[in-house]
Amino acid sequence: MSVALGIDIGGTGIKGARVNLATGELVSDRVKIATPEGAHPPDVLDVVQEIVDTLGHREDEPIGVCFPAVVTHGRTRSASNVSQEWIDFPADEYLTQELGQPIRMVNDADAAGFAEASLGSARGVDGLVILTTLGTGIGSAFLMDGVLVPNSELGLLEIDGELAEKRAANSAREREGLSFEEWASRLTRFYTHVETLFAPELFVIGGGVSSSHEKFFPLIEAGAPLVPAHFLNNAGIIGSALWATKPQD
Ligand code: BGC
Repeated sequence: MSVALGIDIGGTGIKGARVNLATGELVSDRVKIATPEGAHPPDVLDVVQEIVDTLGHREDEPIGVCFPAVVTHGRTRSASNVSQEWIDFPADEYLTQELGQPIRMVNDADAAGFAEASLGSARGVDGLVILTTLGTGIGSAFLMDGVLVPNSELGLLEIDGELAEKRAANSAREREGLSFEEWASRLTRFYTHVETLFAPELFVIGGGVSSSHEKFFPLIEAGAPLVPAHFLNNAGIIGSALWATKPQD
């Protein structure tokens, strides 16, 4: 069985597991540790190291890491819910050096999209599929005929004078104590705006709250169908592991 470690760094928690690359199944415990206050690179590194140690990493086993920022050429370029030190930071190189193991880094929503296009809800769907993750922020992945177009950042769209993710992420629902009806009307505004711009065939929705999809999907009025991420909140872990073994472009 071909396996890799996937690690999903989020604004709230850092999660990791060993993944069967043929099926996307987790073949170890899923280890989760709270993101250290401020999410500074050395503190995040310590948690990643702890997760790798807990999972009992083998030397030749690839490790993929996803992160809530734009990632180009192994550098993190933005930092919405993490320390500003990650802006223009050589993250691939830093983690590779410190962990003593080649690491490949990818945006968290792109990792989830890659998993869903490879083995999940977006597999075999032609045209444009947009995956969004509803968590601390809103992440997005564009999948065109199954191919990932990275770093789309739809959570940073400005809608009605505010960043979409500040108003409509799951953290906004929790912070403001919104009912699912109230939250769904904000999500309708977001998804209809995205539809006006990009006309996707399908929306795939991930993030922790996607496991409660029956409570709010029916309340969202969007033209394109909405489906939950097949891998729910593990899509980032699974996509990172798959990404680690993807042939380099
Ligand atoms: C970041 C994205 C990320 C999303 C979900 C946003 O704040 O800008 O890069 O994908 O949060 O974590």
